[in-house]
Amino acid sequence: MHVDLALVGFGSVGRRFVRLLGERRDRLCRDHGLECRIIGIATRRHGWSVARDGINLSDVLARVEAGLALGLPNGPPALGASDVISALSRSAADLRVMIETTTLNIADGQPAIAHVEAALDAGCHVVTANKGPAAFAYRRLRDRAAANGLSFLFEGAVMDGIPVFNLVRETMPAIDIIGFRGVVNSTTNHILSAMEDGEEFQPALTRMQAEGIAEADPSLDVDGWDAAAKTAALANVLLDADLTPHGVDRVGIGPASASAARAAKAQGRRLRLVASAARIPGGTVRAAVRPIELPPDDILGRLRGMANALILSTDVLGDVAITQSSGGLTQTAYALLSDLIAIARMHHA
Ligand SMILES: NC(=O)c1ccc[n+]([C@@H]2O[C@H](COP(=O)([O-])OP(=O)(O)OC[C@H]3O[C@@H](n4cnc5c(N)ncnc54)[C@H](OP(=O)(O)O)[C@@H]3O)[C@@H](O)[C@H]2O)c1
Repeated sequence: MHVDLALVGFGSVGRRFVRLLGERRDRLCRDHGLECRIIGIATRRHGWSVARDGINLSDVLARVEAGLALGLPNGPPALGASDVISALSRSAADLRVMIETTTLNIADGQPAIAHVEAALDAGCHVVTANKGPAAFAYRRLRDRAAANGLSFLFEGAVMDGIPVFNLVRETMPAIDIIGFRGVVNSTTNHILSAMEDGEEFQPALTRMQAEGIAEADPSLDVDGWDAAAKTAALANVLLDADLTPHGVDRVGIGPASASAARAAKAQGRRLRLVASAARIPGGTVRAAVRPIELPPDDILGRLRGMANALILSTDVLGDVAITQSSGGLTQTAYALLSDLIAIARMHHA
């Protein structure tokens, strides 16, 4: 089966995805019958490129990593994204998939939502690692994909490559998810672990920025926005909520969390930034992100450093926990790949 792809966003995740696609090329062909080609790439500051017969990937990887433009002159971002999506829509491949990996905009999830809508309207499936579309507009995008007979998948948006959405969709039929609790942001977990061992907030954060774990602007992580976006996405999909990150009751961590983390540890407990959501009587979903002191036997309390975990409360299976010891680029790139294979299975069984 011939698969044509267009990439909107070509940063760390997009480039790792392209390399993984190359590394798994034989496997994709042998085990899944997939032959993938990238026919368009759009970025914000590095221009865009379209080639109907497939882009020379080693060339564009080298250009972007040298800080050069992709090939065509820089245009307004919307022009680049819409041009590659429209080129994808004209492809005669068996499967056309837009891979969206632009930066999260915590104000309103744009322009990623517009990219997803444009691709679905153009008859292309969508895979994204961006939390924005599922966190701000899940119902609308899900319904638009279904109306057009297309898929909109986003496994990489939460817990990198660990299957959460696919696990529930594929392996838990006829089950109700009642709620969830989790530690879903690695940076804050890393800082809380360091602080309970005696480090102060600012040195711990600075060290994590130097190690490339925390962003130069860490506010998305430490203020709880990243966790709130993941919580909204999880609640929208698993609990049929209609939330945005701004509807999540949110408290982040800061310098004052150091003494709280140490006080908790002194009592054999652990302070963790816990994301949670549950349906309350009356049917609405309440979601929160806040530092919580956890008892020593709580799975979430045992997570240190980059570890993440999510505990799903279900009506039939009781609690189901998913943990990951450390995530990152390769795992997120793999989530994009696994969504791509899921689409091939669903639409060309
Ligand atoms: N990094 C991770 O481990 C990880 C894990 C899970 C999920 N994610 C999510 O995956 C997404 C990508 O992350 P990343 O680390 O690859 O980010 P990144 O390195 O900052 O790359 C973002 C890419 O999006 C492009 N872009 C931004 N706005 C655009 C627009 N309006 N039109 C077209 N292209 C646009 C950027 O172009 P320029 O380079 O030209 O600015 C860049 O190529 C984010 O939403 C992130 O939250 C990341």
